[in-house]
Amino acid sequence: MTVRAVATLGAPVLREEAAPVGEIDDEVHRLVEDLFDTMYAARGVGLAAPQVGVSRRVLVVDVSSEEEGGEAHALINPEVTAASRRTVKEVEGCLSIPGIEDTVARPLRVAVTGRAPSGEPVRIEAEGLLARALQHEIDHLDGILFIDHLSAFKRGLLLKKWRRKQAEDAEP
Ligand code: NI
Repeated sequence: MTVRAVATLGAPVLREEAAPVGEIDDEVHRLVEDLFDTMYAARGVGLAAPQVGVSRRVLVVDVSSEEEGGEAHALINPEVTAASRRTVKEVEGCLSIPGIEDTVARPLRVAVTGRAPSGEPVRIEAEGLLARALQHEIDHLDGILFIDHLSAFKRGLLLKKWRRKQAEDAEP
């Protein structure tokens, strides 16, 4: 079990487009295990590989701590293939921007395809928190953070708050 360090806002890897995974080898399996370990240790509901400094298209989600009937998913090369026209606004946060959260509008339902660590093709039809978590994590694979979905004004306020918090945390 390895809990890896989580990259925070300002780390260039969070802004890169992650590379697709070719062969699902031992390194990818280890990455998936470490993503789960790191996500659970941080009490998150999702984590994408770039957040542990690995620019590859791999993510894990598990909303079972928040929603009944949820299960853990690991997805390789995931893609949103369909999204409902209906959107919902919910408060969102990110392990890479600790202490910052805001309301983000996203499609209520999405269909996501990808591969399981076994190599099997996977298709997930998700709604609610799982749909939100999948969209948030897939965004990470394209270098997109939840704050990018906010207005420039709101994002500016949050960034100011984030910088203030960073400066406070850095004080002895
Ligand atoms: Ni995030």
